[in-house]
Amino acid sequence: MATLSEPVEKPGHIPEAAVFDFDYHYDPELLADPHKRMSELLEVAPKVFWTPRNGGTWIAIGFNEVFDALRRPDEFSSSIFPPEQIEELLKLLPEDMPRIPRLKPITIDPPEHTAIRSPLSKAFSPKAAMSQLDEIKSLADSLIDAVIDQGHCEFISAVAEPLPVTVFLRMFGLPVDRLGEFRDLVHEVLNPPPGVDLGPMILRKVADALIDDIAARRDHRQDDILSQLWGLDVDGEPMTMDVMEDYAVLLFIAGLDTVINAMGFAVKHLAEHPELQASLRADPSQIPDAVEEMLRRYSFVVPLRRVAQDARLGDFDLKEGDRLMLHLAGADLDERKFDRPDHFDITRDLKSHVAFGGGPHRCVGMHLARIELHTLYRQMLSRLPMWRLDPDHPPTYHSGNVIAVDSVHIRWD
Ligand code: HEM
Repeated sequence: MATLSEPVEKPGHIPEAAVFDFDYHYDPELLADPHKRMSELLEVAPKVFWTPRNGGTWIAIGFNEVFDALRRPDEFSSSIFPPEQIEELLKLLPEDMPRIPRLKPITIDPPEHTAIRSPLSKAFSPKAAMSQLDEIKSLADSLIDAVIDQGHCEFISAVAEPLPVTVFLRMFGLPVDRLGEFRDLVHEVLNPPPGVDLGPMILRKVADALIDDIAARRDHRQDDILSQLWGLDVDGEPMTMDVMEDYAVLLFIAGLDTVINAMGFAVKHLAEHPELQASLRADPSQIPDAVEEMLRRYSFVVPLRRVAQDARLGDFDLKEGDRLMLHLAGADLDERKFDRPDHFDITRDLKSHVAFGGGPHRCVGMHLARIELHTLYRQMLSRLPMWRLDPDHPPTYHSGNVIAVDSVHIRWD
């Protein structure tokens, strides 16, 4: 079992009433049953609290507090280091050092953020996402075909991971025979061994895996996202190789782990609720609503912010330079916002969750994500017999910037 991180000393400006001891990486109850633990925290901890674990950080878990912070980028910045500090650091690096990609636009604040996000919003429009539907359906079918006769599978490695990685390769116009290489990279980047800090060079490694294709699409446009992005401008300036590299690395990180985990939590929930499976099988038109409620019930992203100026959040005063984690899983289980929040209910107001964030950084890939989720559940429910959890292999998780599902073993007759 992983050990908790060493607590740090409480800085003077943090009031005693704000302190709550919680390790967002290694809390044992979080790792045993993440959303149950988040519901418990909402009962026993302040809606915004400071933990001495994980280097000392504020964590917001209440809906109103998270929603509020997402919309105040001047005070709660997405640029984890102040931009001046980044400039200073870059000047100190040796000139022959390879360029470290920056995760744009997710680490950029408004007003610069708006222009840098615009090409991605165009490339990931609802229409562009819909155009992937047939490909996603045939891919989901082929993954189901590969396991259907064996009566069981470890769902994450058999389906949840190859599906979005292959969609990513196809949309980027990358050869699907590089699937194995990209899956290895996904593991390395998204699931490092406990305590290992990958550092910025891992971003370079992801960029290196993509750079030849990015350059090739600049010179020979095709019908894919890379080619389309090359044709767009950023605030009136032509697209550059550096921006393309930044986009590609962010899309790799933001677009794969997220879809994998959404699928993992939903398929586990369905395994535990045969009556819900039966209802969706009988009336598949409910699947889009079920997708939305699954996203709320099992939100899992934990966006990080830097307190850019002294600011009040919840009951406390946060100080410039403090770190703030926005626990979306907590927000979407807050009973002040959602009635009986741990109850799965597709008749509630389904669009008010923050699973995709909110404010300027709201997820660019949400239309594509929804199509991947709808399509997979539709195909699984129409083709696989009723599935259940394998009692010999309970699901496993790890936690960091997302609460991640490592394995979900399911069986069917
Ligand atoms: C169920 C799946 C997904 C979930 C739950 C999710 C969640 C999120 C959240 C919470 C944010 C905001 C982060 C913040 O405020 O710091 C975000 C941003 C983002 N997501 Fe997603 N995401 C998903 C799928 C995808 C996919 C499939 C893609 C792309 C192919 C994608 C690309 C992005 C990008 C580029 C951003 C940054 C937007 C910006 O900074 O303006 N996401 N996502």
